[in-house]
Amino acid sequence: MTTTVNGQRTAIVTGAARGIGAAVALRLARDGLAVGVVDLDETDCAGTVEAIRHAGGTALAVGADIADEDAATAAVDRVAAELGPPTVLVNNAGIGPRAPLVDMTTQQWDTVLGVNLRGPFFLTRAVGPHLIAAGWGRVVNMSSISAVGDAARVDYGSSKAALIGFTKSLALQLGRHGVTANAIAPGFIVSDMTRTSARRLGVDFEEFRRDAERSIAVGRVGVPQDVAHAASFLVSPDAGFVSGQVLYVAGGPVD
Ligand code: NAI
Repeated sequence: MTTTVNGQRTAIVTGAARGIGAAVALRLARDGLAVGVVDLDETDCAGTVEAIRHAGGTALAVGADIADEDAATAAVDRVAAELGPPTVLVNNAGIGPRAPLVDMTTQQWDTVLGVNLRGPFFLTRAVGPHLIAAGWGRVVNMSSISAVGDAARVDYGSSKAALIGFTKSLALQLGRHGVTANAIAPGFIVSDMTRTSARRLGVDFEEFRRDAERSIAVGRVGVPQDVAHAASFLVSPDAGFVSGQVLYVAGGPVD
């Protein structure tokens, strides 16, 4: 059984004001889902919501800091009240500041883990009852190739590896309820995050991009739509036998 309003499923995509999240939100809307577009600032979500409506879809902008337990829970409640019970959740929002381990403050560690790991926990816990009530659901967690190690960001790499454990555990615990949980692990994707990384390193972005391309099998960096396509597959009704997996969207194999 699936819970829908007027036959339309509802999805929540976090960090959907820009970058990968915006592309995922637009793609899921094109696939026919109503989308709760969640990001820190509600007004920042306007561009994504406008693009979805322009494409004939349904979207709602919701401002919430997903690392804040009450805000994360309230965001899910609002989407459920205004768009219908969410049965698709894409935990995409994430941050990845750089700092060498020996200079890293406890606050930075807690902030990164707070957004990248506690946030998905808060959202998934709040969405959980809707998935169980529907007897159907899809959870996609945005990990990263950094899960296998990131020399520049031990906090980020740790959070993205933990998300994979979270994903597999969800898959085991919720599978009997018709729920799948999978992780996407993108490689280099052009977005504000990679532009900021180049700026912090004092490198021109085009140079940064060309440098990355040299080690990518398909000879190019990714774009947010590459990730959106993978998310679309994983949340699709026909993907019900794919669960607990990590799908690398990195232009080549990752060790
Ligand atoms: P981005 O920095 O362009 O966008 C991230 C979005 O998340 C922003 O709109 C930001 O406001 C939002 N956000 C941050 N903290 C939040 C919070 N506490 N509550 C709600 N929203 C919050 O990043 P990008 O590149 O689109 O990345 C999306 C996801 O993909 C992240 O989890 C990132 O770690 C992951 N990823 C990105 C890669 C890349 O090369 N761009 C590679 C691998 C993973």
